[in-house]
Amino acid sequence: LALLSAQAQAQTYPTRNITMIVPFAAGGPTDVIARIVTGHMAQTLGQTIIIENVVGAGGTTATTRAARAANDGYTLITGHMGTHAASVPLYPKLAYHPEKDFEPVGLLAGTPILILARKDFAPKDLKEFIAYVKANESKVNAAHAGVGSVSNVSCELLNSVLGVKPIGVPFNGTGPAMNALVAGQVDYMCDQIVNAVPQINGGTIKAYAVATPERNPSLPNVPTTTEAGLPAFQAQAWNAIFAPKGTPADVVAKLNAAVVKALDDEGVRKRLLDLGSVIPAAADRTPAALGTLVKNEIAKWTPVLKPVN
Ligand code: MLT
Repeated sequence: LALLSAQAQAQTYPTRNITMIVPFAAGGPTDVIARIVTGHMAQTLGQTIIIENVVGAGGTTATTRAARAANDGYTLITGHMGTHAASVPLYPKLAYHPEKDFEPVGLLAGTPILILARKDFAPKDLKEFIAYVKANESKVNAAHAGVGSVSNVSCELLNSVLGVKPIGVPFNGTGPAMNALVAGQVDYMCDQIVNAVPQINGGTIKAYAVATPERNPSLPNVPTTTEAGLPAFQAQAWNAIFAPKGTPADVVAKLNAAVVKALDDEGVRKRLLDLGSVIPAAADRTPAALGTLVKNEIAKWTPVLKPVN
């Protein structure tokens, strides 16, 4: 009987609003990507998708809440490389496990990482930046979105490549961190491209390099880290939708189909591409492909990141 009622529920799903938890502040990269894609998904599903920004602890507060939510398809989370991979080695007491406590729904976007600085930061290019940070590591500071966030983990990777330990300045997301960078209150940041393109093009911050093998079409004048002299620093994050473990397979399938449809929509694609995102290829959009990505990313970050508590 319970199985029958779950099947009937899945057939009519969704019959009411869906809540999409975003684990960082509004206006940041995860929020922007979630809003672009869920705006289209809501049309496909015929229900409103309400974004709820739940901040704190590098996204792990919100992810814990999502893991404990009812597994009925009405509470979802847009997580990322930090919340659903890097958090595992960083937080030994993490209250959730990305694989055991979630059903992967679908990958939304790849997000290349950029090394960014306040407009009037002294170094003019990446080579000068490296020399400057090495000479002033106890004075310079780097903004990030909390331990385990993409911006934190990416700059930790950069620090280990450079052999430096600058001061970290945590925010509730790189939306507010970017505001501080634009205002000149912090020196630099390693951030996802989506948050940076409007500011770079507006001339309010500077970009030293994009940490991918190729330049990004949205920022043709920004060199790659290889071109700029730091080939060892390569970093691209990703954002994806997850549902609490045990969400019915038919519900996950409906949500995944809505993600795929959104990623095929010209308007959605343009908005994501204009912000420098990498749109997942068809084979990378399935729930199974996202599950494999999460497993591989946990394996990749585990030997790299040291526990914080
Ligand atoms: C955000 O949306 O603020 C970011 O994804 C935070 C981060 O992980 O750096």
